[in-house]
This record gives sequence, C-alpha cells and structure tokens, in this order.
Amino acid sequence: MFREVFGFCVLLSFCNAANILYLITYIGKSQYIMLKPIGLELARRGHNVTVITVFKEHDPPPNYHQVVVDENIFDAMGGKRPSHFTSVDLSAEERHNRFLWNGGLTLIEIVLNSTQVKQFLHADHNFDVVISEQFFQEAMYILAHKYNAPLVLITSYGNCMRHNIATRNPLQLATVMSEFLVVEQPKSFFGRLRNFYFTVYEYVWWRFWYLEKMDKLAREYVPDLKEPVPSLYQLQENVSLFLINSHFSVDPPTAYLPNIVEIGGVHLSPNISRLPKDLQKLLDDSKDGVIYMTFGSNIQSSKLPMDKRNAFLNVFRKLKLTVVWKWEDEHLENKPDNVVLRKWLPQNEVLAHPNIKVFISHGGLIGVQEAIYHGVPIIGVPIYGDQYNNLLQMQEAGVAKILQFHDINEQSLETLLNEILKDVSYKNRAKKISRRFKDRPMNPLDTAIYWIEYIIRNKGANYMKNPGLELSWIAYNMLDVYAFFVLLLLLFIYLFNKILSAVKSLITNKRVVEIRNGKMKDN
Ligand SMILES: *[C@@H]1O[C@H](CO)[C@@H](O)[C@H](O)[C@H]1NC(C)=O
Repeated sequence: MFREVFGFCVLLSFCNAANILYLITYIGKSQYIMLKPIGLELARRGHNVTVITVFKEHDPPPNYHQVVVDENIFDAMGGKRPSHFTSVDLSAEERHNRFLWNGGLTLIEIVLNSTQVKQFLHADHNFDVVISEQFFQEAMYILAHKYNAPLVLITSYGNCMRHNIATRNPLQLATVMSEFLVVEQPKSFFGRLRNFYFTVYEYVWWRFWYLEKMDKLAREYVPDLKEPVPSLYQLQENVSLFLINSHFSVDPPTAYLPNIVEIGGVHLSPNISRLPKDLQKLLDDSKDGVIYMTFGSNIQSSKLPMDKRNAFLNVFRKLKLTVVWKWEDEHLENKPDNVVLRKWLPQNEVLAHPNIKVFISHGGLIGVQEAIYHGVPIIGVPIYGDQYNNLLQMQEAGVAKILQFHDINEQSLETLLNEILKDVSYKNRAKKISRRFKDRPMNPLDTAIYWIEYIIRNKGANYMKNPGLELSWIAYNMLDVYAFFVLLLLLFIYLFNKILSAVKSLITNKRVVEIRNGKMKDN
C-alpha cells in the first residue's frame, strides 16, 4: 500500500514537473553552500533543473543538469583583490567603488563569454521559471525575458534596499540597516542619516551607472532577445518572487509584500552528515571543550598580521580546550599542542558537535546562521560587508561579542574568551535563539520550494506584486497629496494674514477718526 501511494506521488509530481533554470554565477563559496540545496531539492521533487554555475556538484540526481563555467574564473577575479585584512577600514562606498561594481561587471562578462554558457544560450530551450541569485550578476536576469518565464530572485544576505525600492516594498530606513553598511548605533540620528545617505548613493550608482553597463552586457552576449527588450531595472520591478536569507526570529522584524519571503536557514536541516572519523574522534575526546575558529571561505586566516596571529596563539596556549582552526598554510610556527589546523572543515557538522564552546568567526551570514542553529556563542571579528551587522544583531541578543580587528591583542582576547566560557548565560541564550530560529510552520527549504512551485503554478502570480508599481514615484510616495496640503496651509496662512491686516487697519483707521474727533472737541 505504502509503495503504491509513494509511486503515485512520484508519478503525480512528475506530471507537474517543470523546466527550471537556476543561475548561481557568483564566485562566493559560502553563498553556493546556501543556494545549492534549493536546486537539488527541486530536482529531487521531479523537476528538470538546469543550473548555470561556477561550482560543480559531483553526484547530482540525473535530472539536475549543470552548465559549469570554468574559465579560470577564480584567477581572473581573485587576482585583483588585496588581502581582506588590509582593507578592513574601507567604507561601504569605497568597497563598492573599488570592488563590487566592477567585480560584478567583470564576472558576468566572463560568465556570458564562456564557451559553456555561449553554447547553452545558442541552443533551443524552454523554461517555466528562471531563478537567480541576487548579487552583482543582474545581466543574467535577461534570461527570464529570453525564455518568457517569471523571474525569482534569491539573496544570500537578507533584505536588500535596492530591491525594496524597485519592487516598492516599504523602505523602513529607520529600523532596517543597509546590508553592507557599518553603523555602530543604527537607530541614532547619525545612524539613520548614514543609512539614508548610503541608500541614496547605492541606488543612484546602481541604477544609473552600473545597471546600464549590465544592460549593455546582456544585449551584447545573449542571443535571440525578442524586442522590445526590457531594461534590467524593469525586470527587477517585475520580479515574481523574492526569497531572502533572513528570518525575523534573529533579524529585525520587517514589513514585506506577499512576494517577498524569508527563508533564512534554508541550507540547514536536522539531518547532519557524519564528520570524518579523525575529526569526530578529536571532538569527542576534547572533554574540556573546543573552540572553532575560521574567517570563512573568502578570508584566509593564514594572512593574519603577525602580531594578531601571535595574540591568538599565546591565548590559546594557556587554555585546556582544544582549538580547531581553519588555517590555509602547511605550517604555523610556535603552534601550541592544543591547536589543530585544517585547511578545510565541514563547518555545519563541526558546529553541531556538543563539545563546541565558542565559535570565533568573521561574522559571515552563513556561519552565523549555522552557529545560531546549533546554539553556539560567537566571538566575532567583522572584516567587511554585512559581517558587522550580522554580529551586531547577535551581540544585541546576548549570544555574541564583537572584537574589532584593530583591537585584537592578548588581553582583549583573553577577557572575551573568559567571559563567554565562564558565563553560562551566553550558552543559554544561544540555545533559546536556536529554538526560536527553528520554530516555524514550515521549514525554510520547504518554504522556498513551495513558493517557487506556486509561482510556476500561477504563471508568475502577478497579483502578488505591489499595485504601487503602476503609480508614478510621486503618486506612490503621496508627494502630490502632501504638496496639496502644504499649499492649502500656505493659502490659509496667507488669507489669515490678509484678514488680520485688514482688521488691523480697520481698527487703526477707526481710532484715528476717533482721536481726530476727540481732539476737535477738546479744541
Ligand atoms: C531538461 O533540461 C535540459 C536542458 O538542460 C533539456 O535539454 C532537456 O530536454 C530537458 N528535459 C525535459 C524532459 O524537458
């Protein structure tokens, strides 16, 4: 009986199978870790999934087709980047000007110009939906127009100001900080001023400089586009669904349109893979606990300046705990015996181990979400991008402490480590947050799949979009109505003044007459 029902379901889901194009073209490995379960799960549910990506999956289901860009893209992109530790002081604007805008343009040109993608774009394909990561790869969205399919965007970092503006979701500048902006007191007057300034800067550059260059790339490299070709901005205004990597249980509560859905934690599930045997043994045997330290997939901790590196080593040397450190070199001079180095670690599985006491992290969102999920307190050293904001939220929730890069020294490290290791309230709050992060009507992966399938079933579900899209910017922001009332008020003040002076002169005239009359009598 079970088998028949199961077989029927498979058959049924196969009947509803859609052709899905999934674009994960950014070169961030942690972003890929978050995004790939969505494509794989769609394939597992019977859809015919085609992925254009720079990372290759080695054992995917047969209906998961990969177009892998391998034009030495990492060399092409990585060569221009300085060490992250030397650029820790750049402002959000400087970071955009130096890396992000041009990085996005260079990356997409390489992707679109690669043999694999060219070949794919020249073949005949049909898709029911186009899903794309949303991170400096906008030219790819033109494929939604090419295949006449609804567009779904996914962020790997949470809410996005530019998209709030494009889709006309309320901006909420007073409570929602721009994703890449570092502001120590977001709600203060200067915090809000800074947020407003950056949002305007980013929007103007993005829309009127960067997107126009992306538009050109799209037209240049993507063949057979039906005229009229919409601008990439128009495509984003019309996005059918926007899945964002945040959740109100740990991020600021925000008002969202029905087609903006939070899927924070989408790559996490209770089924944890096994750790490699040696690592399992090491963690099991570390009865005094383990500190897990990494600066993520992008930032190499082996590039840490010598004084900072020594500070870590000298503090670790004094501890009974084991330290597992993601270290990308062969050697580490003066390494204490309780420090274990690995070039790569299955992070989620490590953080799931009950002996992990503290996570020393740069504050990348994926790692922070993994720590939240497994209830591990964090010492965070933010380096760039959204890291500071991710850590600030955790600090405010009482499960993390921020240690600014320039403040790393033996004393600050020792103080922080002692505080988090000795004060159990950090662990208790981390457990509490873990529980509420998981407490949802549907787990985030099912949520993501549900809404993607909903968009396919309902052919783009245009009715979910903000009707404000049909209004002019002035009308949508009610500026005409406000202007009307201001005019009314000015008119009122004007008339009031007029009447007042009329009455005044009437009274004065009367007095003059009276005085004159009086004087005449006296004489
Ligand atoms: C699945 O997608 C691929 C493109 O990657 C296409 O060649 C193939 O025909 C599709 N299969 C079905 C059953 O639609």
